[in-house]
Amino acid sequence: MRVLDCGCGPGTITVGIADMVAPGQVIGVDINAEQLDVARKNQGDARPNLTFQQADVMQLPFADNSFDVVFEHAMLNHFADPLAAINEQVRVLKPGGILASSNGCREAFIFPENKVLTEAFDLYIQPVRDSGGDNDRGGKLGELFNKAGLKNIRHTLFADNWQIDEISAYMIRALKTNAYNQRLLKDEKITQDKLQAYAQAWDDFGKVNGACFCFLWGRAVGFKA
Ligand SMILES: C[S@@+](CC[C@H](N)C(=O)[O-])C[C@H]1O[C@@H](n2cnc3c(N)ncnc32)[C@H](O)[C@@H]1O
Repeated sequence: MRVLDCGCGPGTITVGIADMVAPGQVIGVDINAEQLDVARKNQGDARPNLTFQQADVMQLPFADNSFDVVFEHAMLNHFADPLAAINEQVRVLKPGGILASSNGCREAFIFPENKVLTEAFDLYIQPVRDSGGDNDRGGKLGELFNKAGLKNIRHTLFADNWQIDEISAYMIRALKTNAYNQRLLKDEKITQDKLQAYAQAWDDFGKVNGACFCFLWGRAVGFKA
């Protein structure tokens, strides 16, 4: 099996796929070289059936009909023209090959919520809005797969229920490391105090007994005719 992971980021998912299909070949591509460095350090280099390569999913450097599975997780949300990316992914799929996509929806259930936490969550989903993307794309994958001519499509939504301490730690890490937030700081569009207040709100949330954080998520698979 030959698998392509588009927009692989730090490669955490790609590594898992490589282990599942070994000795099948897996290639992870991302437009961002820094993400690929992280992916290579993230044990990517230790697996003989896995390689990482810098590429734009809008123009994949691969021949037509050359992969059995093309996968993408949490990337399409960022695109103004997701169908162009999907069509390019379908191009490199073999006939009968599988396209698989998984993307979030904006809706999150957060309890107990307060004004600062609402603002903090809004900042988390802001980069997608700014890039002309769509935070609800997870719910629209079925329509996009149909437009791309895929067959036997299965599109489901599910609620991704997080452990409170995990989501709290994840959000705090994202606040501190997201390139988007670093840019806001540099451009003086947000203050360090504000980011600190958001981090504190996630930290407090993580300590509430009975707190709940749930994210709506969509995933689709379809076959190339
Ligand atoms: C939210 S991250 C998801 C990373 C990974 N799939 C995961 O779920 O852990 C989105 C990734 O898509 C990449 N990306 C955005 N536009 C891209 C493009 N045109 N071509 C390739 N990768 C792209 C970004 O660099 C980023 O690493």
